[in-house]
Amino acid sequence: MDSISHQLEQRRTAARAGGGQHRSDNQHKRGKLTARERVELLLDEGSFEEFDMFVSHRCTDFSMQDKRVPGDGVVTGWGTINGRQMYVFSQDFTVFGGSLSETHAQKICKIMDMAVQNGAPIIGLNDSGGARIQEGVASLAGYAEVFQRNIMASGVVPQISVIMGPCAGGAVYSPAMTDFIFMVRDTSYMFVTGPDVVKTVTNEVISAEELGGAKTHTSKSSVADGAFENDIVALTEVRRLMDFLPLCNREKSPFRPFFDDVDRVEMSLDTIVPANPNLPYDMKEVIIKLADEGDVFELQAEFARNIITAFIRLEGSTVGVVANQPMVLAGCLDIDSSRKAARFVRFCDAFEIPIVTLVDVPGFLPGTTQEYGGIIKHGAKLLFAYGEATVPKVTVITRKAYGGAYDVMASKHLRGDFNYAWPSAQIAVMGAKGAVEILYRSELDDEAFVAARTDEYEERFANPFIAAERGFIDEVILPHSTRQRVCRALSSLRNKKISNPSKKHDNIPL
Ligand code: HXC
Repeated sequence: MDSISHQLEQRRTAARAGGGQHRSDNQHKRGKLTARERVELLLDEGSFEEFDMFVSHRCTDFSMQDKRVPGDGVVTGWGTINGRQMYVFSQDFTVFGGSLSETHAQKICKIMDMAVQNGAPIIGLNDSGGARIQEGVASLAGYAEVFQRNIMASGVVPQISVIMGPCAGGAVYSPAMTDFIFMVRDTSYMFVTGPDVVKTVTNEVISAEELGGAKTHTSKSSVADGAFENDIVALTEVRRLMDFLPLCNREKSPFRPFFDDVDRVEMSLDTIVPANPNLPYDMKEVIIKLADEGDVFELQAEFARNIITAFIRLEGSTVGVVANQPMVLAGCLDIDSSRKAARFVRFCDAFEIPIVTLVDVPGFLPGTTQEYGGIIKHGAKLLFAYGEATVPKVTVITRKAYGGAYDVMASKHLRGDFNYAWPSAQIAVMGAKGAVEILYRSELDDEAFVAARTDEYEERFANPFIAAERGFIDEVILPHSTRQRVCRALSSLRNKKISNPSKKHDNIPL
């Protein structure tokens, strides 16, 4: 017995050592934590239960039988974040560069299966050189097993990926199928093929940072949902995000005690919309003033900034916010903003998170770049996502709701439950100037005539009442009472239940 206990301790020590002190030191020198340090920081203190600590690879090619490290380059198990259960894997770059072998994949698959079975999120801390080169097709098969599980778990449990080192090849495709990807600035990269291969194939000379660093993926490609200064901040922010999310699609989002007044009045909102309709204002201010304690978790903050996607809480419960941002491109819908918001709406709907939509949209962005890029299909994604969503939907039109974009932004016609408008709302096919230019094309030289027609059009449509008369707007509300009205609306929708026609799955315009 004593000798087994002794052996156990020895084996545990060997597993905890990973690829050795020298490689761990290198990890620290690069400003990165080790796989185990990351798990410790992510989870509640002392809550981590490890699986498969003694699993090692079975490869015998390239003298690999002499290079076995217990754990095989990935730490797996479960623990809690603020008392709620999470499954975690953390790749160990000190062991064969965190590369994925057959057994490494099996370890990840085991906790993914348990997460789906037991209804708890999966958080992957990725730091991997991709397929373990020595294992060949066995490693590719391992990746595919993980991918298949990512797909099956999608919409069942939240899946979060944190990219914490160089991730290449297969190491980026599993994260790509998860719900949210976060990166660490200056130490994490994601690419299908690295700079060397790029140079060989396309002759382009590019650094790893430019090709697949955090800035690239949060502002250009939109592959990542956020980037953080270092490992510690990234893991702390993931903890904060998890506090907003339900454990699985069978459970409601967590209720958090709140200390904010539900009836809080925000007089400043009465003057936030400028008198001149061409001037912008910051929609983030509206979101902060709406949220419990002003607590906002924004996603994709650096990409398609003309639309904002964020989680907040109202009366202690999680709400997804989609809001046009008049500060950027006048808040218009374009390819990027439509894709960004559509994915967020679908996440909220999959996990029963109510959606609040704040609308100030002058329409879809015109032009060849947009048309050639397929704005028709991308805009349809957002339209489709809103239309299929069965969660409570509360919409507030703060100013412009023009044209097709009015329809898209959770209008009454797409099963909006509560559609409010501020007195400053203008709901029309297009702005007055554009309308007059089309309706009176042959008389545009007559300035007085054009001014009179523009005034006439504004008089008729630049208000919320035409839509309210038809019941497309349920109520014109005063901006200062927005928090109170939205909270009341959502609380009346707590037991909302609608379903879509039975089908295998829909065919969203991908
Ligand atoms: C086995 C690997 C490895 C891999 C790195 N290592 N990648 N071992 N398989 N894929 C090992 C190295 O041999 C080294 O071992 C240690 O990890 C650290 O690697 P370094 O190169 O010294 O580190 P660094 O300079 O930081 O570079 C990291 C890296 C680079 C950018 C990840 O190692 C690299 O480019 N690796 C190969 C990436 C790749 O092409 N992967 C295959 C992709 S194909 P020692 O013993 O010296 O510490 C793929 C197919 C799946 O994934 C497709 C599914 C759709």
